[in-house]
Parts: sequence; C-alpha cells; structure tokens
Amino acid sequence: KSFFTPISGGSPPSPTKRPTKITVVGVGNVGMAIAQTILTQDLADELALVDAKEDKLRGEMLDLQHAAAFLPRTKIQASVDYAATANSDLCIVTAGARQNPGESRLNLLQRNVALFRHIVPPLAEHSPDCIIMVVSNPVDVLTYVAWRLSGFPANRVIGSGTNLDSSRFRFLIADHLDVNAQDVQAYIVGEHGDSSVALWSSISVGGVPLLSSLERQQIAYEKETLKSIHKEVVQSAYEVIRLKGYTSWAIGYSAASLARTLLRDQRRIHPVSVLAKGLYGIDGGEVFLSLPAQLGRNGVLGVTNLHLTDEEAQQLRTSARTIMEVQSQLGI
Ligand code: NAI
Ligand code: 2OP
Repeated sequence: KSFFTPISGGSPPSPTKRPTKITVVGVGNVGMAIAQTILTQDLADELALVDAKEDKLRGEMLDLQHAAAFLPRTKIQASVDYAATANSDLCIVTAGARQNPGESRLNLLQRNVALFRHIVPPLAEHSPDCIIMVVSNPVDVLTYVAWRLSGFPANRVIGSGTNLDSSRFRFLIADHLDVNAQDVQAYIVGEHGDSSVALWSSISVGGVPLLSSLERQQIAYEKETLKSIHKEVVQSAYEVIRLKGYTSWAIGYSAASLARTLLRDQRRIHPVSVLAKGLYGIDGGEVFLSLPAQLGRNGVLGVTNLHLTDEEAQQLRTSARTIMEVQSQLGI
C-alpha cells in the first residue's frame, strides 16, 4: 500500500540518471568531517561508510541519518563489509593511525600500509571504475600504495595532498594582506608535510602578481617574512594536533571540494598528489606528490605547466627525494 494515491498517468518516472555514490573508509575525526561536509553540500545521492569498529560505525550512521530532516536527501549505509561500497563513483580513504603530538606524518607509514592491504583491494574489486582519493597519512606514499594495490590507472588515484596546505597558505597570506582568501591564488606543492614547497613566484591576489607588484611599488619584503609564513603552514597541523589532538574541519572541506570538482566534472585546478614521474625534472622512480592538477569526472585530466624558479624546482625535487627514500623501505 502506497502513501500516495496514484493519479492517471502519474506512475513514478523511471530514474534518468544513475545515483552518485561516495564511500568513506574510516569514520574517525577525518572521515566524519568529510562525510558531514559531503552531506551538507549535497554531493552524493548515496553515502557508504566503512570502518573496522562495528559499533562506532553504526553509531555514526544513525547520528547522521537522524539529521535527515535538515539535509538534502542522501541514502546513508554503513558496514564493515565492503559489499556496501559496490558501484561507488568515489572512494575516500581516511582509515588509519594518526600522529601523536610532535610525531611526523612519515612515521605512520608502516602501520597504515598494513591497513591499506586490507582496504584497497576490496574497494577496487567492488567499484572497479571508481576514483580513489587517499587522505590517510603519509598521504603521498599511501597514494602510491593505493595505486599499486588497486591496479587502477594513475589518473584515477589521487591523494588529497597539499590542497589543504594551500588553503592554509592562502588563509595566512590573506590575513597578512587583509583580503579574502578566495582572491589569493597560491600553491604549496610537493609533500603534504615537512618538505612541502611554497611557490612564491606564482602567487597572485585578485589577478595581480604578488612579488612583482611589491617590487614595482618598492615595498621591501623580507625573504625571512615569506619563509616564516611557509613555516607557519608546515607547523599548522602540529599546532592543531597539540591543541585539540587531531585536525578535521579543514580536511573535511578540502576533501569535499575535491569530491565536487571530480564528480561534477568541474575541471578546476587543485594541488593534489598525482603520479609525478618525469614532471618538473622529477626522475628516479614512481613517486606521488602534489602538483596543481586539473580534475574532472575522469580523475586527473592533466598537470599544469607552471613556471618555477630554479630554487622552487630544486626544492620540489628534494621533496620528491624525501618521499622516494621513505617509499623505498616498503617493498611494494
Ligand atoms: P581516527 O583515529 O579518529 O580515525 C581512524 C579510523 O580508522 C578509526 O575509526 C578506525 O577504527 C579506522 N580504522 C582503523 N583500521 C581500519 C581498517 N582496517 N579498516 C577500516 N577502518 C579502520 O583518526 P583521524 O583523526 O580520523 O585520522 C585519520 C587519518 O587521516 C590519519 O592517518 C591522519 O594522519 C590522516 N589525516 C590526513 C590529513 C590530510 O590532509 N591528508 C588531514 C588530517 C588527518
Ligand atoms: C593535516 O595536515 C595532520 O595531515 C594532517 O592536518
């Protein structure tokens, strides 16, 4: 018996489009911040949550479902069984150990690689055409691991990378200049973490190149000031972890912005972790690190050809070497 009385010719229309489905693996601080941003921004018709802790998983699912009256309609499922993820368009992996105060991201590697062996193959099996987005740390090396374990082409495996660091950078520059962060175009590239590289030479504010404009106006800027802003970006996560134990809201918005660009084929440029072999003089192996990349429904559509100064290019290659050294311990 239906709730509605049918009217003549009013049979339910057959669906015209396949539902958009996102899976989030790991329902900790980060997974839940991403899930709730996806829901509030109406990015998916279906959301599947997976974790190893059954009670926590069900609790989080119910808590989100109870907000149904305040949110766009999304079917939310949760299971420890990867069958629930079947036919996802995008799988976001946030499961794993996080840093203790003062601990580096790279230190998490062995623990999180072990988890990825149980997570990535079933994701790939149940959603062979999906895009995988890695968020767990160390994100660059784990994106490489996800690429290898999934067998997917490199355009369909990305790491959230320095999309977050670049937002922190834009916030600090905007704060310094008293402008809106959305008007600041600025990229952090390389490792999401300690060896990241700030691309000062390409920063613009409202279309005005920052450094040359300062020079033209003969406004003295200290290299030390620039360095200290980048240092603050690198220290940001350490500070938040020291203060509240983990970071969550900013990565929630960062990952949701990537999900929007990918699933809605927005073709925006984001600094994300991509296979960088052969780009910007990076050689010596298959390494994932962040470069400004154009993203769309097929994943990574291309990497922009930015002009880097010699110093920036050198720093980028050093960052690549740092990641490769850690990666070489993996045996994958
Ligand atoms: P958390 O401890 O709150 O949550 C981790 C979740 O992973 C837990 O719910 C746990 O049960 C689950 N998990 C563990 N093993 C699993 C398995 N085999 N299968 C499924 N789920 C499993 O940690 P939090 O704060 O959510 O951080 C998660 C990860 O995200 C960490 O590696 C952290 O460093 C990283 N992170 C990355 C950021 C980035 O910008 N890339 C930003 C913030 C955090
Ligand atoms: C962040 O940058 C800890 O990678 C994490 O917030």
